[in-house]
This record gives sequence, C-alpha cells and structure tokens, in this order.
Amino acid sequence: MVPSDYFKKLPKEELFTEIDKPLEIDLGCGDGSFLVAMALKYPEKNFLGVERLLGRVRKVLRKSEENSLSNLKVLRLELSYTIEWLLPDHCASRIHLLFPDPWPKKKHHKRRLINESFCEALVKILNQDGEFLFKTDHEEYFEESMNTLQNFSLLDHIPWDNEDYYPVTDFERIWTNEGKEIFTARYKVKAQGA
Ligand SMILES: C[S@@+](CC[C@H](N)C(=O)[O-])C[C@H]1O[C@@H](n2cnc3c(N)ncnc32)[C@H](O)[C@@H]1O
Repeated sequence: MVPSDYFKKLPKEELFTEIDKPLEIDLGCGDGSFLVAMALKYPEKNFLGVERLLGRVRKVLRKSEENSLSNLKVLRLELSYTIEWLLPDHCASRIHLLFPDPWPKKKHHKRRLINESFCEALVKILNQDGEFLFKTDHEEYFEESMNTLQNFSLLDHIPWDNEDYYPVTDFERIWTNEGKEIFTARYKVKAQGA
C-alpha cells in the first residue's frame, strides 16, 4: 500500500475499507511466508506487513497475488516511523515482531527496536485488548527486551499457549534447522483501571 500522505496519521479506512475486521500487523515481515499463511487461514481478518526492503516487499506481493488474497497489504517503510507516526490509534488487534535484527554489536544496540518509545507506540496502536507477540533466537536481545517490556506498566505478560495456529517464519526455520533455541514472549494491553 502507498499512503496518500506520509506525514499524517493514516485514516483507518485507508488501511482497509472493512474497518470492523480485526487487523494484525507483522513488523519486518521479510518475504511474508508467515503473513500469507495467516491471511489464508483467517479470511475474516486483515493483515498488514511492514518491511523496508523492496525485494522482500515484491516477494510478499507475488505470493499474495498467487493466492488471490484481498485481506493482505504491505507497506514499504521504516518500522519505528510507521508505528510512532503513521498508523492510526487503536487500529490493531495483534502486532507480531518475529526475529527482528538483533544488532549484536554493542555499538549498534541503539538500533534495536524494543525500547520505551516502541512500547508506548504499541499501546497506542493496539486495541484495548490487543496483543504483542515477539520471537527471537538471540538470548541477550531477548533478555534486554523482556526487561524493557516488564518495566513498561501498560502491558501484561501472558502465557503463549501453543493452541493457536501460528506459522513458522522463514528465519525461524533457518535458526531451528541450525539447532538454535527460540525465545518467545506474548503481552496484552493492561485492562483499564487494573
Ligand atoms: C531477520 S528478518 C525477519 C523476517 C521475518 N519476520 C521472519 O521471521 O522470517 C528482519 C526483517 O525486518 C526488516 N527490518 C529490519 N529493520 C527494519 C526497519 N527499521 N524498518 C522496516 N523493516 C525492517 C528487514 O528488512 C528484514 O526483512
């Protein structure tokens, strides 16, 4: 999708015309295998991928067209800008952050996505009972992220039961084949007055 104005909050109807359908957002959707599998499984929901690399965006679009999906869109844009400035308030039921770049070198840690501003933006764009789902193979990044998320008072840590359909992503497949451990976390927007 191409926003009509990159410098204003997007109207909900511009994201998807059926604004009553739950919207799930995949931040850094890569080649889109997860997003496409979810959009196929849940036609009653809408899915938005955000990805900065053009080649990957094109791959998602190709897969979406091959599957004639009308409930999937991809936005080619920087993640922090997208969630902090572009997406409308309370537009999403779930936000997925799956295997974000861990930026392992200390001098690059400031490029890591999960920080307090990120958490504030999450809570602004999630619905009242919205969820944030996070996976990584990088233990040190996971611990740092958990520390930030635990200290953020507007999100509650909840168990990630495996009863839900949750497709394996391309990067998850790579790391699992290499025998790496996968770290997961699921948070829910704290109930008002709690
Ligand atoms: C390690 S890959 C994971 C892709 C996919 N989620 C998966 O699990 O297979 C991280 C993805 O996030 C994208 N990405 C990283 N930082 C980004 C940013 N600041 N804005 C937009 N996309 C970003 C990268 O281009 C890449 O496709």
